[in-house]
Amino acid sequence: MKSFNPIKRGYLALETWLSFSFTPAWNPFYHLGTLTFFFLWVVLISGLYLFVFFDSSIHGAYASVERITHEQWYAGGVMRSLHRYASDAAVVTILLHMFREFALDRYRGFRWYSWFTGIPSLWMIILLGITGYWLVWDMLAQYVAIGSSRLMDAVPIFPEAMTRNFLEGYLNDRFFILMGFLHLLGQPMFLVFMLWFHVRRLSHVDINPPRGLAIGSFLALLVLSAAKPAISHGPADLSRVPAVLNLDWFYLNVYPLLDYWTAGQTWILTTGVSLLLMLLPWLPRKRTAPAAVVDLNHCNGCGQCFDDCPFDAISMQKRTDGARWEHEVVVNPSLCAACGICMGACPSSNPMRRADEVIKTGIDMPQFPLHEIRARTEAAIAALRGDTRILVFGCEHGFDVTELNSTDTLGVTLFCSGMVPPTLIEYALKKGVEGVVVSGCRPADCYFRYGNKWMTKRIQGLRKPVLRPRVDQRRLMILGAAETDGAGLRRDLAAFRQSLVALKTEADGAPGPARRAGDG
Ligand code: HEM
Repeated sequence: MKSFNPIKRGYLALETWLSFSFTPAWNPFYHLGTLTFFFLWVVLISGLYLFVFFDSSIHGAYASVERITHEQWYAGGVMRSLHRYASDAAVVTILLHMFREFALDRYRGFRWYSWFTGIPSLWMIILLGITGYWLVWDMLAQYVAIGSSRLMDAVPIFPEAMTRNFLEGYLNDRFFILMGFLHLLGQPMFLVFMLWFHVRRLSHVDINPPRGLAIGSFLALLVLSAAKPAISHGPADLSRVPAVLNLDWFYLNVYPLLDYWTAGQTWILTTGVSLLLMLLPWLPRKRTAPAAVVDLNHCNGCGQCFDDCPFDAISMQKRTDGARWEHEVVVNPSLCAACGICMGACPSSNPMRRADEVIKTGIDMPQFPLHEIRARTEAAIAALRGDTRILVFGCEHGFDVTELNSTDTLGVTLFCSGMVPPTLIEYALKKGVEGVVVSGCRPADCYFRYGNKWMTKRIQGLRKPVLRPRVDQRRLMILGAAETDGAGLRRDLAAFRQSLVALKTEADGAPGPARRAGDG
């Protein structure tokens, strides 16, 4: 039984509801990172359009934005609104993305790197928004400029001439062009670099959301743009203090603090919160289990584990042991998440050996090797009783399958459902159980990113190593359930049991020998 975590449970309940409304494949909470990329694309394309008509001089900027907004409302106006709302949407999806990783405990241990690099990426996006508001050079821009000058004044690294720019008479085109350069080129390029860094330790990174979700999100932005077009405040006037302003709280939330606090205090708060967030993976730290180990005597360098590793922890190199194969695989222990997906991917991971033989495979988990998994499987099969004996392979991060244990059903928990080699399923059926269930994390979500996806594809014969076609697929069920999905899982299991009973009746009634699982 897993420990009770109210944040995780509440979050899972929300995701259940979204999966129900959008289907799991389109559940926006499963695509928060890719949705952020999508919104950033919209920001980039609309920004390029705006740039064509934008006058980057301090005296022409405001008027050019007004022309874009009002004279070309059908094109430039819409582009401006899309630019603003897609930027806001990106902050919303980033905050939700952060919260999700936190709520599901996917930010510590081997994931520290993605979390740690995420915070500066968020800051870079906020800074991009700030320079963007500046370029409009309206009263809001003036408010941002004055607030920023106060903040910069408090940092000893900025030269006096830079902050003096914001005082009347000193603000010149050069400084304004610098802002334009930062917003249009410098910051976006830096952001791309940071995002590349952010996902560098992951493989098979998808940066595009499902098409339907992207179209739906874009339509929502369009509707918002039509309903509430983005407009400017009055033109900046450095002789006046900006009065009532419509702040964009997603980007400019720090500035109102300056009404109450000194710039130094504001810096202490913002850098303090950022540092605290960056250090969160160590508060407290989560240890990652021992890394996968390669046994060259059983590795032919096929590269299947290299292809399947979701965390880029496996690389290929020239053979070093003089064996006839061209390549061998190498595990980088500092990147390994200890998910065991590589073991499930290795064609040598075959439990069908002599009972007294210690099973070895090309890549294995030292803390739960294939040999021990087979022993655990055999013990469970031996303990099962009844006419419809079902063995359930589960994953540590989904529903605890040992909660399903009964006289005719027993669960064996692995690190991830992707750790199950297809031959293990065949082995269990051969050993006489009536049915096998593999239950990983929820469909379209996986604690180890790709475990349940690769497992499903292997079973469907779409990814190596495939489950042999001679296995009777009717005796097999793939499920996916989080710790809160017990009721649904039990219902699916009951239906599966019924189908196994029907199969047995059919086989008993049929002429000739009953067809046994694993028979060709
Ligand atoms: C700034 C914009 C950001 C974008 C565009 C972005 C995008 C992404 C993408 C595409 C992934 C890969 C997801 C996958 O393929 O499984 C990812 C992973 C991750 N992100 Fe972000 N992210 C951003 C910011 C952040 C922030 C602010 C945090 C938290 C501080 C964060 C935390 C993580 C973590 C922990 C992972 C690893 C997920 C895993 O290993 O399954 N990200 N991000």
